[in-house]
Amino acid sequence: MKMKKWIAAGATALISAALLNVMPASAGNWTKPSEQTLRALGERHRLYIGTAVDMAALNDANDPQYRALVGSEFSTVTAENVMKWESLEPTRGTYNWGPADQLIDFARQNRQLVRGHVLVWQNQLPSWLTSGVANGTIGTEELRGLLRNHITNVVTHFKGKIWQWDVVNEAVSDPWDSPPAIHLKGFWAQQLGAGYIADAFRWARAADSKALLFYNDYNIEAFGARDSSDKTQFVYDMVKQLRDNRVPIDGVGSQGHLGTQYGNYDAFAVADALNQFSSLGLATAFTEVDARSQMTAGVQAGDSNEINPRVQASAFNYSVLLQACLSNRHCLSFTVWGFTDKHSWVPTWFTNPPEGLATLYDENYQPKKAYQTVKADLVYAGAPHVLPRIPQSPRR
Ligand code: G3I
Repeated sequence: MKMKKWIAAGATALISAALLNVMPASAGNWTKPSEQTLRALGERHRLYIGTAVDMAALNDANDPQYRALVGSEFSTVTAENVMKWESLEPTRGTYNWGPADQLIDFARQNRQLVRGHVLVWQNQLPSWLTSGVANGTIGTEELRGLLRNHITNVVTHFKGKIWQWDVVNEAVSDPWDSPPAIHLKGFWAQQLGAGYIADAFRWARAADSKALLFYNDYNIEAFGARDSSDKTQFVYDMVKQLRDNRVPIDGVGSQGHLGTQYGNYDAFAVADALNQFSSLGLATAFTEVDARSQMTAGVQAGDSNEINPRVQASAFNYSVLLQACLSNRHCLSFTVWGFTDKHSWVPTWFTNPPEGLATLYDENYQPKKAYQTVKADLVYAGAPHVLPRIPQSPRR
């Protein structure tokens, strides 16, 4: 009996040590936490750490560090562009699966899970589709059929290879839009009415019974006034309604595009939003995290007085989102939208005033404060407030 207890205690200690990624020094294979990868440290929480992948950079033989870091630091990947409708079906009826299939292969080789991005979005639609609607050659019923076929074809093609699908992306307005009361916005709501969202989830589920199906949006990191100007509240009400109507939605993705020039969130407010989403029976995830700064003349000239506060504020923003995610046991993955300033959507998107410095590594692949802070959060978080993830089962 005594012996059994000893064996059980020993086994528990070993499992705990493995889970903590901190083997005793005498074991001989102890690695300093600061020298471990983000993906290894995330495993301890059963949290997947991800990045969006730019396929041109991944395939650039002159830029081997990009490919190496995607493989070593991350346990999940998202296609930054190549799974969008304009990339997959540039000509009506002709699918170009090549680049997306390449990413799936890369993920398999590197034991990574794939977030599918994106099935229904008003941006990066093929021009044959938008011009057909604009000139009246594609009517409402045909458009609905095209959307249904697109979802069915894409989900079927990748069936069994996608962990989480962003089924509907950015369907909800912002307070600065007109009218200011939050509403469903964009091409699909205008053409098909509000019902397209439930339809999209049902069509996706019909094509793959196992992928987790997400609604994905930005500016939903925390609740605001909880009135008609509050986007997070609108999304909460919308997904609650979908759940009440037995629509097969499994999760809410909070993108996490932050800027250091704005008021920062605190981790408790962000955790509260995640907890409210997960209290509806949904998984959560951060899906597109970055924290950009304005590139003032001083920053561009290399003035450390201007650079340092931005670099630190960026790290703080990453930390707020990650701490909240760690605290919510249904937060399955923490994905950054590009990991190096060398390949980031920010400088090309925000030009007036210019913005940048948004990612974990600088342009020379040197880890920044944000990287070390994310790492430290993964190392130093634990019980009782941070417990391992609770897996989500796909909803019928
Ligand atoms: O593919 C063309 C290329 O042929 C051409 O030479 C080049 C010249 O500008 O443009 C290329 O297309 C660009 C494409 O990225 C691929 O690089 C588009 O101009 C550019 O607009 C497009 O930007 C993407 C943006 O979505 C479009 O909406 C960004 O890379 C991508 O990071 C960004 O990602 C979105 C998420 O999907 C949803 N959430 C917000 C996030 C950031 O905007």
